[in-house]
Amino acid sequence: MTLGVLILAAGKGTRMKSDLPKALHAAAGRSLLGWTLDNTAPLQARETVVVVGDGAEAVIAALPDDAAHILQEPQLGTGDAVRAGLEGFTDAVSTVLVVPADMPLLSPVTLQSVLDTHADSGNAATVLSAVMRDPTGYGRVLRDGDTVAAIVEHGDASTEQRAVNEVNTSVYAFERKRLDTALAGLGNENAQGEYYLTDVVWLLAGAGDQVGAVTTDETEALGVNSHAQLAAAGAELRRRINLQLMEDGVAMLDPDRVYIDAGVSVAAGARIYPDVYLVGETTVGADAEVGPNVHATDTAIAEGATVRWAVLDRAVVGRDASVGPFTHLRPGTDLGEGAKAGEFVGIKNSTIGKGSKVPHLAYVGDAEIGEGSNLGAGTVTVNYDGYHKHRTKIGDRVRIGSDTMLIAPVEIGDDAYTGAGSVITEDVAPGALAIERSPQQEISGYAERRKRRAAEESDS
Ligand code: UD1
Ligand code: CA
Repeated sequence: MTLGVLILAAGKGTRMKSDLPKALHAAAGRSLLGWTLDNTAPLQARETVVVVGDGAEAVIAALPDDAAHILQEPQLGTGDAVRAGLEGFTDAVSTVLVVPADMPLLSPVTLQSVLDTHADSGNAATVLSAVMRDPTGYGRVLRDGDTVAAIVEHGDASTEQRAVNEVNTSVYAFERKRLDTALAGLGNENAQGEYYLTDVVWLLAGAGDQVGAVTTDETEALGVNSHAQLAAAGAELRRRINLQLMEDGVAMLDPDRVYIDAGVSVAAGARIYPDVYLVGETTVGADAEVGPNVHATDTAIAEGATVRWAVLDRAVVGRDASVGPFTHLRPGTDLGEGAKAGEFVGIKNSTIGKGSKVPHLAYVGDAEIGEGSNLGAGTVTVNYDGYHKHRTKIGDRVRIGSDTMLIAPVEIGDDAYTGAGSVITEDVAPGALAIERSPQQEISGYAERRKRRAAEESDS
């Protein structure tokens, strides 16, 4: 047999009440379609065809190069979708595995077992079914002993049929020729006025073809039609991601409160505390401590680093560096080895060299800071003149005094100092102290004089 995988992703997803096509809604950092493609990839099908329709342009843009697509327009039901999709296969394909794009929890092992059973049994069709505590909304599998006689949709089922709790997952293996014949006989006289793929089952059974079933567990069978189901799928995917990471040596104080996307990598020995969100292509090195309360997107956190109560976006946190609490690292922040970005500090598009520290209440933008330098509390790189952004360059072993305003473009040489409260508008030479402050005046006896004056005024 030559396998073709047919992914159904044309449906409107009405119950999502969203402009985004259902297949592109994400769970644990990957779209429903992305999960479906991932879960079918290990089957190594000769051809993969995705049926697109609602929001086709966006769905096509999200497809990998090796997945072909067919447009189903208008969308007249799952049977109609399969009829359209089959056009996308070459004649070589003899067995078709139909997989809806709204089942992110399917495992490749289960899909393979559908194919194995299908091949071994000589079935014309093999349905993946599941026994559900609450089968409401799903199509019910009506059996005739070991074989399947029909699938009846919830909306078309009698009270008696609704009592059946074995449901259709909407995953099926079909012999292509038998499927072709059955699809030609499909009608749309049902509750939704659609061409149901499920009707192929009784059409085949009625023609004397054998239809079998493989049963999986309730969790895997979840179809996402609503935001509540999307959240349930996301929770299960995250549970699996966290379980795998813990097995690989990552410590988590409370895995139920850790939100790690599918594309994230966390090394063994890292410790993740509650309320941590690791998004996109974030990486965390060994022995790093992340959390509590960290949101990191596309950020690299190196070995031994500590990040607490912080928001990081496209930032790099070097080895043994420390971030937080209450720190915002924006795109282009590169914190060097052992460097520090402390409380109420914002940094963007800046390099902070090895061992340099920005410990408190500072803004650093468009700056390059060398190694072993320290920025006093309240330091600001004044990078924006209202029209253009300018750069600040600070050398090695520099001591910037508290509350220094560095009016960019400006350069502070190695080993230089600035006096606290200075507004630095000129470059500072290496080793120099720059201080910009009016001299302090002292008026002695001032308090006594004031008191006297007040007493005189109240007397008169
Ligand atoms: C479908 C099954 C139901 C099963 C359930 C499992 C039918 C008629 N019903 O119901 O027996 O229990 O899945 O989750 O098949 N699609 C298209 N084009 C269309 C219509 C749908 O591509 O014209 C795609 C959708 O994008 C989706 C999949 O087919 O990925 C299933 O469609 P959906 O509307 O979610 O079917 P259900 O009502 O869930
Ligand atoms: Ca569905």
